[in-house]
Amino acid sequence: MSRLSIMAYTFGIVFFIVSCSFASFYGYKVLTHDLPKEEKKVEKYNYHFVLVPEELDNEYWRLVEKGAKVAAKEYGVLLEYAGPKQANIDDHVKTIEMSAASKVDGIMTQGLSDEQFTPLINRVVAKGIPVITVDTDVSNSNRLAYIGTDNYYSGFLAGKALIADTKGKANVAIITGSFYKNHQIQRVKGFEDAVKAEKGIHIVTVEESEISRVKAAEKAYQILQDHPEVNAFFGTSALDGIEIAHVVEKYKMQNKIYIIGFDTLPETLDYIRKGTIKATVVQEPYQMGYEAVKMMIDLIKGKKVATIVHTDTRIMRINDLPVSNPGGIREVK
Ligand code: BGC
Repeated sequence: MSRLSIMAYTFGIVFFIVSCSFASFYGYKVLTHDLPKEEKKVEKYNYHFVLVPEELDNEYWRLVEKGAKVAAKEYGVLLEYAGPKQANIDDHVKTIEMSAASKVDGIMTQGLSDEQFTPLINRVVAKGIPVITVDTDVSNSNRLAYIGTDNYYSGFLAGKALIADTKGKANVAIITGSFYKNHQIQRVKGFEDAVKAEKGIHIVTVEESEISRVKAAEKAYQILQDHPEVNAFFGTSALDGIEIAHVVEKYKMQNKIYIIGFDTLPETLDYIRKGTIKATVVQEPYQMGYEAVKMMIDLIKGKKVATIVHTDTRIMRINDLPVSNPGGIREVK
């Protein structure tokens, strides 16, 4: 055998041995490797519900979602949280129409006052899909039930709190989320009724924030410019009080201006702790979401359900806050 063929022969054998070792090594690995568990377990659920908020990423609505999700888990419900990114009737309506078209078992939605809303709800209910309104009612529709704050009463409470805190003397500016949404109208009306007999309380102006932080801040700033006599504010939706406080702090007017807001978002509680916001109207968005899911199941099962369920509402001031916040309790549900 020539030297060359010996070398080729040796190389061939070495190559064969190396390949066999690789093959056995990786063959062994493949056989013993833990196969990835199937990521998406097909969840079994009893019902499919949709929750349609006014605004998806609004912290207030995230609390409604949280409550609904907890109940959904407990009762085997597939819960979808879908709706407008920013308060918008067309997107809101579209979400309800799509949910109805995909034949969900129930729709929970904020009730809107726009003219197309009631006929839409009536069409959906006529198709056999139950609808519950949450947070804001549309009592002239065929929705099967409402769960949420008694909005007139909550505004009335705010008025009484302002009278008590200002000793019945104040020039008030109201910033409301909307001039035409039922719950905002009710809150303003309740407030007006509460203060109307008070000689020392004057409502100087009512402005609209359109549920927008930027607009609420703009309006607060404008009011301070246009009405220097204003020394009290009432913000009727979750972000209004926060933005009024923001502007008031910016102009260092905390000691001159009284603020009463709505809801207990972390920022609101921070402003209460600092003394910039003096009081807020507590709502129970978590409970609204949780109970809405339970009510929907009861309705589907044909159980008797109250048509109007009012969740708790009350006034919170600095003394009602937890003494300290070491564990970061950021939320009052
Ligand atoms: C209202 C919600 C609204 C939210 C806006 C709350 O006070 O109850 O309907 O979407 O404020 O920030």
